[in-house]
Amino acid sequence: MLGKEFLFFNRENIDLPDDFKELQLQCESCKRCSLFKTRRNVVFGKGNKNAILMLIGEAPGEKEDIKGEPFVGAAGELLTKMLKAINLTRDDVYIANVLKCRPPGNRDPKPEEIEACKGYLFKQIEIINPKIILALGRYAIKFLTDYSGPLSAIRGNVLYYKGIKVVPTYHPAALIYHQEWKRGSWEDLKLARRLYDEALKPQIHPVK
Ligand code: URA
Repeated sequence: MLGKEFLFFNRENIDLPDDFKELQLQCESCKRCSLFKTRRNVVFGKGNKNAILMLIGEAPGEKEDIKGEPFVGAAGELLTKMLKAINLTRDDVYIANVLKCRPPGNRDPKPEEIEACKGYLFKQIEIINPKIILALGRYAIKFLTDYSGPLSAIRGNVLYYKGIKVVPTYHPAALIYHQEWKRGSWEDLKLARRLYDEALKPQIHPVK
C-alpha cells in the first residue's frame, strides 16, 4: 500500500524539472502564489549542490529579498558563526527556505503559500539528496516531518524525511532574542556534526 507521503511527494514533483538549473529558472519566474507581486527577487537557495548537510529556514526577509540569497541578514550572520563552530562553511552546505519569496513585512508564511511553493523544496532535496537536514525553526520542521508541537519536546532527537536524517533546532532569528536557547542550539549543532562525520565514514559491509 502506498503511504500518504509517497502520493503527496510525487504529485507535487511531477511537473518540475529534474535538472537543478532548470528548476531554479522555473522558480525564478514563479507566479504560483501572490508573493510574486511584492518580491524583489526570488531566493531559490545557495551553496554546495553535492552537500551532505542541507539547512532549511523559513522564508526570505528584507535583506534576502534585496540580494536574492538566503540568510544574508542578522540571522544569517549568526548562522555563519554556528556553522563555523562545527568547522563548516557556507560552501560546505546547501541553504534553502520553505518559501522562496518574502512575505511582506516578514509576516508568517500562509498555508496556501507553503502549498504553492512546496514542490521546489521537495525537488531541491530530491536532487541534492543530502544525508542530513538541519531544520531551522517550526516551519522547516513542520514541512519535513509534519510535527507542529513545541520544539522543546523534540529537539535533541533525530527525525526522518524520506530516509534523510532531520535534526530539528531553533531558528537563528529566534536565538538572537532568546539567549537561553543557545545551549540547546549548541547541542543540536554538535549532533548534526556527529551525523555529518558518520556520513563521511566509508561504509563497510560485512562479507556474508
Ligand atoms: N530567515 C529565514 O528563515 N530565511 C532566510 O533566508 C532569512 C531569514
